Amino acid sequence: MPIRLPLALLAAAWAAPPARADDPVKVSYFKDIRPILQQHCNGCHQPAKPQGGYVTTAHPDLFKAGERGKPGVVAGKPAASYLLDQVRPGKSGKPEMPKGRDPLTSEQVKLLTAWVQQGAADDTPASAKAVAVDADHPPKYSAPPVVTALAFAPDGTALAVTGYHEVLLYDTAKYDLKARLIGISERVQAVAYSPDGKKLAAVGGAPGRFGEVQVWNPETEKLLVSAPVTFDTLYGVSWSPDGKGLAFGCADNTVRAVDPLTGKQTLQMGTHSDWVLGTVYAQDGEHLVSVSRDMSMKLTEVDTQRFIDNVTSITPGALKGGLMALDRRPVKARRMTKVPQDEGGKFVEKVYDEVVVAGADGAPRLYKIHREVKRVIGDDANRIREYERMPGRVSGLAFNADGTRFAAASSLDGKGEVRVYDTEKGSKVVCEKVSGPAYAVAWHPDGKLIASAGFDGAVWLHDPATGKLVNSFVVLPKSAPKAGAR
Ligand code: HEC
Repeated sequence: MPIRLPLALLAAAWAAPPARADDPVKVSYFKDIRPILQQHCNGCHQPAKPQGGYVTTAHPDLFKAGERGKPGVVAGKPAASYLLDQVRPGKSGKPEMPKGRDPLTSEQVKLLTAWVQQGAADDTPASAKAVAVDADHPPKYSAPPVVTALAFAPDGTALAVTGYHEVLLYDTAKYDLKARLIGISERVQAVAYSPDGKKLAAVGGAPGRFGEVQVWNPETEKLLVSAPVTFDTLYGVSWSPDGKGLAFGCADNTVRAVDPLTGKQTLQMGTHSDWVLGTVYAQDGEHLVSVSRDMSMKLTEVDTQRFIDNVTSITPGALKGGLMALDRRPVKARRMTKVPQDEGGKFVEKVYDEVVVAGADGAPRLYKIHREVKRVIGDDANRIREYERMPGRVSGLAFNADGTRFAAASSLDGKGEVRVYDTEKGSKVVCEKVSGPAYAVAWHPDGKLIASAGFDGAVWLHDPATGKLVNSFVVLPKSAPKAGAR
């Protein structure tokens, strides 16, 4: 079983209304202060990225001094607490912190001040304390984690695999663990290398508390950006072809993108009506395609952040169940297409930007991103073809480098399947010895290997031409002392 948080307990604690600063009641670190730090400070002040030498992720660290040598919090003494000094408007009229972001509200500043005044105690319940994990306190595994995403580095030398609270980097020479990228998100839902391979993006968060975009330098293992986004987990991260945009899906039904250098939001599109689970940029980088549990695939114009079109049919019943995964065909497809009668009705060769998409109904489908004909009720005009249905739901899809084949991962009733489809012919190869539900799949850049993984924490390495299992390993980092102590 995967390691689970005492969610019921956290939820119960969170259900209590937060204190107001002007109430005579005691301000709670756990309920009032920690969420403020989580949303506004932890991104830049965590063990993996202690800006100014100061850490806000754990209660004891708040009392320490940063690079300027002034203690952040002095219990009972707001005037001596540098943290409070930094969040209050200074000479410029603007507070120093959160740096480059919107200031805290006066209510939040009052809460922080009252908490310091009242003694700055830690009232975190013992059960919630046990889950404190960060770069200084690596997660300990008593069982392999559920793997939700995988990605090969563009040069093929590394495989990134999601773990609990971290992304694990494996050296593909022997599949030795070479790095643990531990951020503040409990769950990492998706990973993607930048097109040049110099950055690795990971998105996730803590359900019902915060979402986070992480950007790492996989070479130095340094966390470059940690940006808080929304109050729930994020999904389906993708890079723009020029590496300047980073898009992802949110549980507040929005598609968003940030600047990967700063974490600042650059796009938000809100016409989905359920969680957005996957994103991918069109080849020109000017459009973004997103899929959602609302069963639709939508097209957004990047520059204007405008919703352009439903790529899938919006006719009720045309799709069954939510869409969970998509991948863009890496090279444009040439197809013979009949031009309209009034233009001669001949077949001409046209070039298309295409995506493969799948979800709860198990059938992968190939779509062109851009519409050519006017929408007619009941049509599914962008659809090119449908492939043989997989058992269960498909949550992982990946094209090979030339787009001639794609791999798909599915899960149903404790079992999983990984298949490779020929994009044009539709023929399939079923991969052998997949020991559990499969959630994710990635294609090695040389085209000769696919990696897949899922519920039981095993990573399967298959030959996509034959479906033979060529190697496998279990994700279970042992570098932490006393594995299984939790
Ligand atoms: C976007 C990044 C970012 C965010 C968000 C942020 N900080 Fe900072 N913080 C910095 C940097 C960078 C420094 C180093 C000094 C500087 O550049 O101003 C710093 C310095 C500090 C220091 C002084 C440490 C020292 O001794 O030098 C304190 C205290 C502090 N931050 C508190 C906070 C608090 C509290 C929040 C949330 C309300 C916050 N910061 C949010 C980037 C950030």
